[in-house]
Amino acid sequence: MITHPAYMVEPWCLRETELNLDVLSQSESVFALSNGHIGWRGNLDEGEPHGLPGTYLNGVYEFRPLPYAEAGYGYPESGQTIINVTNGKLIRLLVDDEPFDLRYGKLHRHERVLDFRTGLLHRTAEWTSPSGRSVRVRSSRLVSFTQRAIAAVSYEVEPLDGDVRIVVQSELVANEQLPLTTRDPRAAAVLESPLAVEHHAAHGPRIRLLHRTEHSGLRVGVSASHVVSGGEKTEMSSESSDNLARFTITTRLRSGQRLRVEKFVAHGWSAIRSAPAVHDQVDAALAAAVSTGWQGLADEQSDYLENFWSRSDVEVDGDAEIQQAARFALFHVLQAGARGEARALPAKGLTGPGYDGHCFWDTETFVLPVLTYTAPQAVEQALRWRYSTLPAARERARQLGLEGAAFPWRTINGDECSGYWPAGTAAFHINADIADAAVRYTKATNDEAFEKEVGLPLLVETARLWRSLGHHDHHGDFHIDGVTGPDEYSAISDDNTYTNLMAQHNLQEAAAVVERHPDLAALLGADDEEAATWRDAATRMTLPYNPELAVHEQSEGFTRHQLWDFAGTGDDEYPLMLHFPYFDLYRKQVAKQADLVLAMCLRGDAFTPEEKAANFAYYERLTVRDSSLSACGQAVMAAETGHMRLAYDYLGEAAMMDLSDLQGNTRDGIHIASLAGTWFALVIGFGGMREYDGLIAFTPRLPEQLGRLAFTVQFRGQRLRVEITGSTATYSLLDGKALEIRHCGERLRVTSDAPESCQVPPIPTGPAPEQPAGRAPARRGRAPGHSEG
Ligand code: BGC
Repeated sequence: MITHPAYMVEPWCLRETELNLDVLSQSESVFALSNGHIGWRGNLDEGEPHGLPGTYLNGVYEFRPLPYAEAGYGYPESGQTIINVTNGKLIRLLVDDEPFDLRYGKLHRHERVLDFRTGLLHRTAEWTSPSGRSVRVRSSRLVSFTQRAIAAVSYEVEPLDGDVRIVVQSELVANEQLPLTTRDPRAAAVLESPLAVEHHAAHGPRIRLLHRTEHSGLRVGVSASHVVSGGEKTEMSSESSDNLARFTITTRLRSGQRLRVEKFVAHGWSAIRSAPAVHDQVDAALAAAVSTGWQGLADEQSDYLENFWSRSDVEVDGDAEIQQAARFALFHVLQAGARGEARALPAKGLTGPGYDGHCFWDTETFVLPVLTYTAPQAVEQALRWRYSTLPAARERARQLGLEGAAFPWRTINGDECSGYWPAGTAAFHINADIADAAVRYTKATNDEAFEKEVGLPLLVETARLWRSLGHHDHHGDFHIDGVTGPDEYSAISDDNTYTNLMAQHNLQEAAAVVERHPDLAALLGADDEEAATWRDAATRMTLPYNPELAVHEQSEGFTRHQLWDFAGTGDDEYPLMLHFPYFDLYRKQVAKQADLVLAMCLRGDAFTPEEKAANFAYYERLTVRDSSLSACGQAVMAAETGHMRLAYDYLGEAAMMDLSDLQGNTRDGIHIASLAGTWFALVIGFGGMREYDGLIAFTPRLPEQLGRLAFTVQFRGQRLRVEITGSTATYSLLDGKALEIRHCGERLRVTSDAPESCQVPPIPTGPAPEQPAGRAPARRGRAPGHSEG
């Protein structure tokens, strides 16, 4: 857990007021900047000390062998791992004759501020060298939302005690040495020197490196240019070699003088373009950035964010930490998706190498719903990426003996990377999750071009998968056997309720889209007759239920299994997967993460309020939250079933996942889905927002700790602001003429003429659900680590 005394609670930024080397890698993740295409970890300008140096380009990976003790049919032969590409952040400094290295000398002040409104990461350091020379260094950096290939740094040095000789070395460095990986399966593989040089150049303030990955054959180019001002007798030179290009500035600074360096960095990569084409590409992007200038880029960045916040801000009264965390979360979710442009959106975004940079169901289930209502163009792009991998998914289905398309459990390039069958290939629900995200996006935007081009094929091919994966029994009931649901502590089960409900929706929506676009469907070989078989399967879908316990089963037979020995499991034995064999986890009642509870959150229409209450209470006792994806779904269902205090505590867990490093692995990158879960807990949980059949509905309910919650969502090109205080909800239409919504089950027409205020009825509640021993969420408002009794 980050015991960081130094993150200040402020509404619009994350401020760290001292440098704590023990949590350097965590803070590098938290302070990472990205636009969805480029990711710069929050490494210090001078490169060292570092926790984990990291510069990533979305889609740039290398193959790595997947050795199996016992291989089997259909196991992927190789995996993909994100690589640390050329580092363009580096600006080293020599003060008189000593390197500016905070581990030596005396650091008087160190502050970093990530500003959610300007998108800039600022740093100020005041330092005295071992030989007694004092300087102040101020830097700001950005990864541009408006110029996708560009990142930039503004760097200033000033002497604090008289004249000083300064040397600044601004560098591009390839194949940085990385710390060795841990044994934690959630970390990443480290490949040594993944980049082979193709070209290097240095001309005055312009430096360039071009490399290629050996096996994946991706060409990676980076160019930088500099604008220098201040200083006396300034000399500049540049040089380059295979893995290093450097621009050096030597100057003298008198008291009161400052040296200022603006560094513009253009990144680019291609799987097919030639070396000259890639370096022209980065040089062109660089030319545009230099002509925009540092201030121009910074202005564009804040305009972009001002627009984003006007469409998506969430305001919380009563808990300043949650207010900050909510904006931190939205900022990072935006960073992960903003300019991905038909590339995957990895579980860690581009903030670290965790999970090898793979994209999972996390994206479609947790991240895209948030972006659907806040930055829908990012969703379109992320789903276009899935669509671009359809040939690989069709091929995978063929290999597995199935129809349609089987999307990979984890991947960068569209091919399956999971070498672990039970929690990889068998987690077929990802296919329905993708379909669900496509349907949600289409309904929220009315983007018909998308539906025809992308939605239709995704839905048809995934429906075919379900139809061939499942079967009708002799009574005609439809079963999907031998699959793994979201809870990875159960595997290869029959009729996982989450999977079946999501597949049901997938099948119904696929049939509907075929009906809407028969001509286009015909091009895929789909017709009414095939759609009728999907509808049959959906209608006869099995949902296992235990009448004695009066609860749904997570999957067939689940409630008959032995209970996990929670009382006999020590606090230090979590996460269970690092301390117990999967074999044992699989045969007992214990849930790694919300599974049936998530089904109730996403398919609330399939359960009565009484079923929701009973199911929630039952599965709370079994859910240990060893996955960061769990708390937000539990927050939503706790709120829906009236357990507001519990919902609030789960909100706290989702929101503080990275700011407090609750899973102990923030060093490898932040948990984008859990951050998205902060919005889930607030908007879907407390705002009670649902979308059924193209109508958005709200059933607001606030925990007593929050005096007010306000949020803005986009729906079909209109902007709706919802403000909830204790007993009133006010709906205002900010753009557009009129919008039909539901408030607590009643239809309501909101027009741009005037806001509509409605009463929020009191929330009925039942007995408080219990969690496994020691696994209750921390009570918000109490000292960290204190759990609910
Ligand atoms: C979770 C999965 C998730 C993956 C990546 C695992 O721990 O159980 O549901 O997709 O992490 O975030």
